[in-house]
Amino acid sequence: DQTKTGVKGLVDAGVTKVPRIFINENDKPTMSKYCNSDSDESSSLIPTIDLTGINDDSGTRAQIVKKVKEASERSGIFQIINHELPLSIMEEMIEGVRRFNEQDTEAKKKYYTRDRTKKFQYNSNADIYTEPTASWKDNLLGRMVPNPPHSHELPDVCRDIMFEYTEHVTKVGNTVYELLSEALGLEPGHLKEIGCVDTVNIVGNYYPACPEPELAFGITSHVDYGLLAILLQDNVGGLQFLYQHQWIDVPVVSGGLIINVGDFIQLITNDKLKSVRHRALANKESARISVATFMTPGPIDNTRLYGPIKELITEDEPAIYKHTTFKDFLTSYYTPNVDGTTANLKDF
Ligand code: SIN
Ligand code: FE2
Repeated sequence: DQTKTGVKGLVDAGVTKVPRIFINENDKPTMSKYCNSDSDESSSLIPTIDLTGINDDSGTRAQIVKKVKEASERSGIFQIINHELPLSIMEEMIEGVRRFNEQDTEAKKKYYTRDRTKKFQYNSNADIYTEPTASWKDNLLGRMVPNPPHSHELPDVCRDIMFEYTEHVTKVGNTVYELLSEALGLEPGHLKEIGCVDTVNIVGNYYPACPEPELAFGITSHVDYGLLAILLQDNVGGLQFLYQHQWIDVPVVSGGLIINVGDFIQLITNDKLKSVRHRALANKESARISVATFMTPGPIDNTRLYGPIKELITEDEPAIYKHTTFKDFLTSYYTPNVDGTTANLKDF
């Protein structure tokens, strides 16, 4: 029953030592080279791109597309400001995740499930069977688009904001997909038309304060399997990404949304865009909250085949990957082989 109260349950029970399952002797948290995240080098590796004027006729949009192209080819991660998500909604979304996680244990337990068919899931370390080490976090997940949950399927403490956030973040996602399409030299609607925005899942991460942040990660090193993640974080910080074997801090930018590239978009762009490895440090002082939105194909048309987009293939740059449905791609990422490993990009 203890597991149903998550990592926060451990903290509430007063643990002062991080249990072994959270510790990986071969991969301990280290501060990055650019601990001072304001350094010029860090901010050019993860630029903040201002979307003001994006629909103007002038050269503004072309400038923005150019910046998106540079960042998504170089490090696979960037931040945007002055997008379609009002600050008040971003703040309320963070508070909704806080209210859910900080409410009474009994109320939370009702939502505890690993059943992927549920519209709302609360759990902790759902990937524990495929990952060697547990992460110091709990999470909630809402499957919001295309078949939104019924009101009664979402908890009172975050229902309204989940619907409202979805509406706005979907607009942001559409804009980012347009910019990426243009950055790839495709028609602005290309990625949308092939179904890349058909599904919207919202994941709220709650990282309780950790007694030994030098031993455990908030989230262990990983690449996202999907197309892109639109990440909102509170002002605690701790997210890092890997660039040329160095962990780089992602600065906290007020009003900023972090965009990072995942494996499936690397596949369909034939390595034009590269997925980015990332992780988050745990923190001794306070809990940290982040909200990741994932927009992917399916489940409207699960038979559609995806492979490197033909406009991006040339004689010099032939297709690197096979065709697959998004569903099969996902299944192989989540189903362990006999040796316990799961698929990754090179298997396609
Ligand atoms: C994630 O990678 O899904 C979460 C990252 C974060 O919390 O900053
Ligand atoms: Fe991630």
